[in-house]
Amino acid sequence: MKKRKSTPVSHVSRLPSHGPPAVSDLQLDSKGRLRHLLTVEGLSRPLLTEILDRAEGFASSGEKKYALLHGTTVVNLFFEASTRTRTTFELAAKRLSADVINLDVSASSTSKGETLLDTLATLQAMQVDMFVVRHAASGAAHFFAEHAAPGVAVLNAGDGRHAHPTQALLDLFTLRKHRRDFRKLTVAIVGDILHSRVARSDIHALRILGAKEIRVVGPRTLIPAAVETLGVRACYTLDEGLDGADVVMLLRLQRERMSGYYIPSPGEFYRSFGLTRARLSLLKPEAVIMHPGPINRGVEIEGDLAYGERSLILQQVTHGIAVRMAVMAMLSESRESPACRQAGGVGSRET
Ligand code: CP
Repeated sequence: MKKRKSTPVSHVSRLPSHGPPAVSDLQLDSKGRLRHLLTVEGLSRPLLTEILDRAEGFASSGEKKYALLHGTTVVNLFFEASTRTRTTFELAAKRLSADVINLDVSASSTSKGETLLDTLATLQAMQVDMFVVRHAASGAAHFFAEHAAPGVAVLNAGDGRHAHPTQALLDLFTLRKHRRDFRKLTVAIVGDILHSRVARSDIHALRILGAKEIRVVGPRTLIPAAVETLGVRACYTLDEGLDGADVVMLLRLQRERMSGYYIPSPGEFYRSFGLTRARLSLLKPEAVIMHPGPINRGVEIEGDLAYGERSLILQQVTHGIAVRMAVMAMLSESRESPACRQAGGVGSRET
C-alpha cells in the first residue's frame, strides 16, 4: 500500500486577491497531459478533442462500471451550492470505481475557522487522490492545485466568475452530437455574461474548436467592458443577437455574485432578453437551445421551451457524467507518471 508523508503547509487564511493567472500551465505535465483541470483556456484543440472522444466512448458503451479508478479516493469539496455538477461528478467517480466522499462543507471544520490550506492538508493526510472543488472565489481551484501534493489532482467545479471547465466540455460534447462542424456555427450566449464562469469557459472552448461566430447578448450592464478581446461580438438587443444563430446558450442571472442593481427587475430582463416562443423565429429553423442550469422559467426562458423539442438542456445534464468520467480517467493516467510523483510540493507521496 502506498504511504504519503505530509510536510507542513503555510497557514494562509484567505485567497490571494489578484485571482488566477489568465492561462494556467499548472494543469499540464511535461508531456502535455492533464495533471489538473482548472480552466479550458490554453488547452490545445487535440487535447480538448481527446476529452470529448473519451467521453463519447463512455457515453456510447452502455457500461455502467469501469475499474479505472479502483483504489482512488475522490473528495467533492463544494463551498457553493450545486445539483448537477456535484451529483454528476459523484456518479462519474463511482462509475469508475473510485471511493467518493462528499464533504459537507457547512458542517466541516471550515465553519470553525479552518483555512483552505489546512483543510487540504488534513484531507491529503487521509490519502485523498482527487479533489473536486467549487468555491465562490475566482482562483480557488488554482490555489488548491498550487498547494496540492504531487500526484494529487484538482478539478475545478466552478470558481467565482472565472471558470467552469467541465461545464464547457459537456456543452461542447452535447453540441458536437448535434452539429459536428463547429466552423459553421454561430453561437449566441445570452444573459448575465459579466458574472458567468460558464460564459468564459464556453467562449474559450468554442474558440479552440473554431466556432464561426460567438455573440454575447445582454444589457450593457451585464456585458464586460472590452469583451471583444475574447474574440466575441457584443449585441445589446436580442433581435441582433439571435438573428440567424444556430445555437442559443442561455444564462441565469447570477444574483449571488451581484452587488447593487444591474437590471431594473427580473420581469424587465425577461421582456427584453428572455427567450420566448415568439422569438424562436429569429434563430435558424434547426437551431438548438442550451442552458447550464439551474434555469429560472419566466426570467431567461419561457417555461414551455425549457424541455421542449429544441432544447438540449437535459441532454447537457446527462452528458456531464461521461465528460467528467473522461476527465477523471485522463487525470488518473497522468498521476501514474513517475515524473509527476517526483515533482516537489506540499506533502510527498512515498511509493
Ligand atoms: N451548471 C451547474 O453548474 O449547475 P449546478 O450549480 O447545479 O452544479
